[in-house]
Amino acid sequence: MRYYIVSEQKNEKIKPVDIRREIVPKAKVLVTGGAGFIGSHLVDLYLESDYEVVVIDNLATGKNENLNSDAKFYEMDITSPELEDFFKKEKFDFVNHLAAQASARDAIIEPIFDAKTNIIGTINVLKNAARTQVKKVIFSSSVAIYGEQEYHPAAEDHPIHPVNPYGVSKAAAESYVSYYHQHNNLNYTIFRYANVYGPRQDPFGEGGVVAIFVQKILAGEQPLINGDGRQTRDFIYVGDIARANLIATESNVTGTFNLSNIKETSILDLFNLIKDISQSSFDPLFGEIKAGDQRRSLIDSKLARERLNWRPQTDLVEGLKKTVEFFQACK
Ligand SMILES: NC(=O)c1ccc[n+]([C@@H]2O[C@H](COP(=O)([O-])OP(=O)(O)OC[C@H]3O[C@@H](n4cnc5c(N)ncnc54)[C@H](O)[C@@H]3O)[C@@H](O)[C@H]2O)c1
Repeated sequence: MRYYIVSEQKNEKIKPVDIRREIVPKAKVLVTGGAGFIGSHLVDLYLESDYEVVVIDNLATGKNENLNSDAKFYEMDITSPELEDFFKKEKFDFVNHLAAQASARDAIIEPIFDAKTNIIGTINVLKNAARTQVKKVIFSSSVAIYGEQEYHPAAEDHPIHPVNPYGVSKAAAESYVSYYHQHNNLNYTIFRYANVYGPRQDPFGEGGVVAIFVQKILAGEQPLINGDGRQTRDFIYVGDIARANLIATESNVTGTFNLSNIKETSILDLFNLIKDISQSSFDPLFGEIKAGDQRRSLIDSKLARERLNWRPQTDLVEGLKKTVEFFQACK
């Protein structure tokens, strides 16, 4: 927020003064997973919005180069008992909890590891947030909790029946958020993200399909489409996700919200869009369908629009252009 001191004699603007910076102490926010894809965009936005930012991340998938040097960084695991002293020492106003084992496929192979990070780690964060009177916790959940959807677009009251251990661990973590709200008055916002894409998404290993296609095409390698490519996803740009998290931090609304574009795109159409944007000559090549791949995914974010006044601002073509530009610059 910017205010101006107006000279009484000349009635002209003489000096911009950021009142919030000078009078109100900066709010302090902890971003767990702040070296990761979504977390690092959020850290940048908090810093731009004048928050004091602390990051913890064990760099399991997060990267040093994603870290903003204006944030204080602790290389720490969210399951560690050291979290207790850390919370007491730092005293946060807000906690934005993104650190997670975020791969649905890895969770099928290592469900115990997934549960340790996503459930035990989340309890450790919530317990310490409640004990140190944090004003609000914001938790990153996922469309994966709905499993194969009964109707489209799925609203927040759609039945929860995850079809992989990652969805199960996110659903369990949501229940713990709700428990700490009921029994410890810990305010919260839970966001259930659709498929997030954008700059810094890890294209290696289990990265999102956008990052995989873009990286392959730019490297001159043929991308493989799983199955017939008619499976659909609801893609949402990372900048829109970061903005929703900032709005939630500054709002006193407690609740659970889907974040999506409410737009279904097939993987084949996505491939063709990326092909056009990056001016590639690759034709689509189809491979085996992967076990556990959902057929359709489309969620309704009307509630976030109504209650948080949030709406996505970046359409798929614009977001894909930004993503292709980012990966081109990384080459
Ligand atoms: N990317 C998506 O499409 C999507 C969709 C739905 C939900 N989410 C959720 O959003 C959040 C961020 O996801 P992302 O896509 O940025 O993934 P990411 O892997 O880039 O980020 C996760 C971060 O958490 C860190 N981390 C993992 N285990 C940790 C631990 N035990 N202690 C400390 N740090 C740890 C990683 O090093 C990484 O920096 C996750 O909670 C994920 O489940 C992501």
